Amino acid sequence: MSENRVIGAEVIEDARKRGRLTFEVLPGDIVTSLASETAARVGINLLNGPIEKPAPLRSDGNTSMRRSLYRRSPKWVAPARNASTTARRFSKIALVGSGGVGSNIAHLAANADMADEIALIDIAPGVAAATALDLNHASGITGTRARVFGGEDLSLVAGANVIVVTAGRARLPGMSRADLIGANTRVIRSTAAVIRTLAPKAIVIVVTNPLDEMTVEMLRATGLPREQVLGMAGTLDSSRFRNALAMAAGVTPADVQAITLGSHGDEMAPITSLARIKGRALDAFLSQDQIDACVKDAITGGGQVVALRKTGSATIAPAHSTVELLDYVRGAKTGPIPVSVMLDGEYGLKNVVLGVPARLGACGLVSIENLRLSEAEMVALHSAAGAISERLGL
Ligand code: 2OP
Repeated sequence: MSENRVIGAEVIEDARKRGRLTFEVLPGDIVTSLASETAARVGINLLNGPIEKPAPLRSDGNTSMRRSLYRRSPKWVAPARNASTTARRFSKIALVGSGGVGSNIAHLAANADMADEIALIDIAPGVAAATALDLNHASGITGTRARVFGGEDLSLVAGANVIVVTAGRARLPGMSRADLIGANTRVIRSTAAVIRTLAPKAIVIVVTNPLDEMTVEMLRATGLPREQVLGMAGTLDSSRFRNALAMAAGVTPADVQAITLGSHGDEMAPITSLARIKGRALDAFLSQDQIDACVKDAITGGGQVVALRKTGSATIAPAHSTVELLDYVRGAKTGPIPVSVMLDGEYGLKNVVLGVPARLGACGLVSIENLRLSEAEMVALHSAAGAISERLGL
């Protein structure tokens, strides 16, 4: 049991110095009135926690919040940051869902001029068409050749090389991603039926939550091979982790290399042992408490945005993270990146989708990097796999 904390002004000042914009107040915490005043003065939002539901205790302390026990593998290569000169251009990207994430992906993809056509699809009348028109209006300034189309009909996926699915309900404050399973499974199934018929060769990137479960559902409902169905989560969670580490260490995010594996939820595993700041291990820059806070930041990052926004979840970072996957698929970037894929014996797991480091290419999944894991690390991955399977009733 954790002890009740007294949150004084100095705690808030310290959080602000570390670049925090939110501070989680847990049940039982005592927040002094000076701390509340300080928070208001320095622009920190005090959020009633827990922001994320605590992870169920699945084994021993190894599966506690710092699931960061992966041993460095000689095979691990940090994700390449450099753009390749041999990047392919997609003939068509289809985006199923034109809310905050879908429209931001369209915006970034159009600006990067990575496709001839971008099709936006949304069941809300006029929304996709309006966003498409809006983006095309910008092309007189950006000069992009990409043409954006928008409509309500899923048949717009026909002919796409890549289909990104963001459609479905987003979390509201107090909800976990797993609370969306029922509603969003129906969305995935109806989208999958059209993909199976009209675009069976497309690479499908699932963004809809709960990510790992919805990726399993997409695989099942389309019957596509695992190479073609990818889940976007690890690029987002890793970016949040790098941001937290950079803020804590007072460096820029470009100085930080770090990844997360596991699930896109409570069972996320930010990998501290592999993380590097300016090429050095984290403890060269940060105390253990600071590292723990960064791990927590990565795990609760999505929930922090939901708690602030109140009407939905993050849009910009998820869109960038999806475009990152598109860049690896089209060869603009190379090397392993964290992506959710169906495992087929890797890490001793089968028939479950989990975030692992993998190489991508024109046909989707090329290979999964097998990191050498300690027993505790295997426990963490198996624990995540068990939780996902349990939620899917397997
Ligand atoms: C997030 O973590 C939407 O799941 C997404 O922000």
